[in-house]
Amino acid sequence: MKYTAILLLLLPCVIYGASLPEPRMTVFAATNDELLNVAEQLYSADVNKAASGDVTLNLQYKASSAQTSSGTDFASQRIFSYVNEAKLFARPTFSRLIALLDNYVKTTGTAESVPSSEITEQNAFVDEIFKTTVFSRLSSFLVSKGYYTSTESFKADLKEMWFGLYTRTKGPLDSSGFEHAFHGEIHGGKISGFHSWVQFYLQEKAGQINYLSYSADGPWTSYPDVYGFQFKWSTYLKTLGSMFVGSSPEYEIAVYTLCYVTRPDSLCTLRAGGQTLKIQTYTWANSSYGNGKRYVASAYPVV
Ligand SMILES: *[C@@H]1O[C@H](CO)[C@@H](O)[C@H](O)[C@H]1NC(C)=O
Repeated sequence: MKYTAILLLLLPCVIYGASLPEPRMTVFAATNDELLNVAEQLYSADVNKAASGDVTLNLQYKASSAQTSSGTDFASQRIFSYVNEAKLFARPTFSRLIALLDNYVKTTGTAESVPSSEITEQNAFVDEIFKTTVFSRLSSFLVSKGYYTSTESFKADLKEMWFGLYTRTKGPLDSSGFEHAFHGEIHGGKISGFHSWVQFYLQEKAGQINYLSYSADGPWTSYPDVYGFQFKWSTYLKTLGSMFVGSSPEYEIAVYTLCYVTRPDSLCTLRAGGQTLKIQTYTWANSSYGNGKRYVASAYPVV
């Protein structure tokens, strides 16, 4: 009797549900206002970002838009005068990020070898960012909006989209979204990608980067801020390298992923500390994983 009653109650829902068209993306897609709101939550949840005194920049020279492509060295000194490594890089998400940065061949055309030790490092990084409040907020948001069914499926997809390999040179699996955005690549005789301030700092410290000038400084008065830099990596030039400075790794990959999942291949408007933050993402259209899902081709803040 009881079961019959429950069945009768459920029957209309089952019939109604079966007759509905695929509602997933249209019903659950995040609105622009929801993106602004969750972006502010990610910003305020970011406890691992640098405090004001943890990073000191020596900007030196502001290049005009006509000067950015010249490759002229307007700065005789490094841009990073000081980074509180003992404090920031001891934090687990920073140390896991840094562990990944020696895993890549920077010039495209050579297949990336990925020994199991590097898979372990990737998993350790992803595990660590998923422990943060920034990621629990992002994960809850994407699941609540129907982009993923669970934190686990989001995490599995994040690994594929950022670390899955593809070829930029029609052959060897020489690239990934992570390598492009966080490590940087030399492609077609230029620096391609390279949007991580931690990588910039470490490469500059190692004598591999020559900072030339800056062309943009975001409206923030504390970290993270967003800058546009001109620089050389060995002999190769980046005429406009935009990046967060002073952000935590989890914050960067969270805002990129938020935009990549909800507003792929477009300019995505977020908010951070009451200021507008624009993120551009691109999907890699030439190969896919899973059921036609695309790898990250690029993601960066727009200045
Ligand atoms: C990607 O696909 C486009 C369009 O088919 C093609 O023009 C381009 O050469 C491809 N690039 C690579 C690296 O495979």
